[in-house]
This record gives sequence, C-alpha cells and structure tokens, in this order.
Amino acid sequence: MATGVVFLGPPGSGKGTQAEILAKLLEIPHISTGEILRSAIANSTPLGQKAKGYMDQGELVPNELILDMVRERLHEQDILKGWILDGFPRSVSQATFLDELLNEINYAALCVIDLEVPHDVLIDRLLKRGRQDDTEETIRRRLEVYHEQTEPVTDYYRRQGNLHIVDGNRGPEEVTQSLKDIVQT
Ligand code: AP5
Ligand code: MG
Repeated sequence: MATGVVFLGPPGSGKGTQAEILAKLLEIPHISTGEILRSAIANSTPLGQKAKGYMDQGELVPNELILDMVRERLHEQDILKGWILDGFPRSVSQATFLDELLNEINYAALCVIDLEVPHDVLIDRLLKRGRQDDTEETIRRRLEVYHEQTEPVTDYYRRQGNLHIVDGNRGPEEVTQSLKDIVQT
C-alpha cells in the first residue's frame, strides 16, 4: 500500500535531513512546507512576501497561506505511490485539516514519525547550520512555538495509533535505519 509519512519533531531534529533520504529510498516526493515557503521568498512571490515576516520571527505562517498550498500539492499525480510531509501539520487545526484532505484523496495509511532530540543538541545543530532563521532569538521562539502548538499534534496522532517515536540523537545513518524499519513493515 502507498505510504503517507509525516515528520514531526522540533526545529533541528533532522526532519529535513531524514525526509530527503527516505524520499529517495522510497522514490516518493518530499514535501517540505518550510522549503516551499523559502523558495517563495527567494522568488519574491506574493506568498513569499506575506510569509517572510512570520518566518523571520519564528512564528507559524497563518493557515490561510498554508492550507490551500498543501491541498494543491497533495492533489498532484506524483503522490499516488506515497509522499513525505516535513513540517506539516504543526498545529492541531492543521492535523484535522490533513485528515479531511486524506479522505478527499482516498488515502488510508498514515505513518507519523516524531524525532526526539534533547533541547541543547537542537540549539547546537541550528546555530552551526546558520539558516536565515537560525539566530539565537528566532531559534528560541521556534522552539517555544513547537512546544505550544506542535507538541499537541503528537498526542493527536498517539490517540489515532499512528505515532512512532524515534531517537533522533544518533548518527544520521542509524536514524535512517530505524525509519526504514518503521516504514517498510
Ligand atoms: P521548517 O523549515 O519546517 O523549519 P523547522 O521546523 O524549524 O525545522 P528545521 O528545518 O530547522 O529543522 P529540521 O528538523 O528539518 O532539521 P534538519 O534536517 O535541517 O519551518 C520554518 C518556518 O516556516 C517555520 O518557523 C514557520 O514560520 C514556517 N512554516 C513551515 N511549515 C509551516 C506550517 N505547516 N505552518 C505554518 N508555518 C510553517 O537538521 C538541522 C541541522 O542538524 C542540519 O544542519 C543537519 O545537517 C543537522 N543534522 C541532522 N540530523 C543530524 C544528526 N542525526 N546528527 C547530527 N546533525 C544532524
Ligand atoms: Mg527542515
């Protein structure tokens, strides 16, 4: 059966790193809402112009800019074999939206991965990476937003029985091996 994978996990936990590897292995698209927004900013599109201020502050971009974008992406043909969502959903309202969307596209199987990494390791990784939003202040806010708005999403999926918690504080290859074991069984 086609696999729909969702990556949860705080900023710096390795969602993007692992989603990219897994997408290549499974030959399915890697859909990162953060990357879509950063590319919109780089191209100065209306979406990018509206989203930039929120991202620079470490706040979530409002749903009215995100939900249609995700709906359109999951209606494309290349998702029929499966897909990986990285950075979506990150609030309970986005998770309920995704459930409705999955009904719309007749998608049954969902595999949700939560990458766990200690707080100080996250900060260390992000400061070393140095993306536009990897300043000390913005990292602090992104982690708070994760705690306030995205952590409840893990409970949402735990109740659905779809949640897999993975230790992300290991070498990337070890993390990938755990993910393969989860997704391919
Ligand atoms: P987004 O782009 O999703 O960023 P994030 O959640 O803050 O996460 P990061 O991309 O920083 O971390 P990651 O978990 O992908 O880790 P990575 O693999 O890069 O969102 C950015 C912003 O966009 C949000 O703040 C928000 O404003 C907006 N946005 C996006 N989606 C939204 C949505 N759905 N709704 C509303 N707003 C939204 O790894 C980090 C570093 O660690 C890298 O340098 C990597 O090389 C290294 N690393 C990775 N794995 C390991 C390992 N195992 N060991 C050592 N180092 C490692
Ligand atoms: Mg990322």
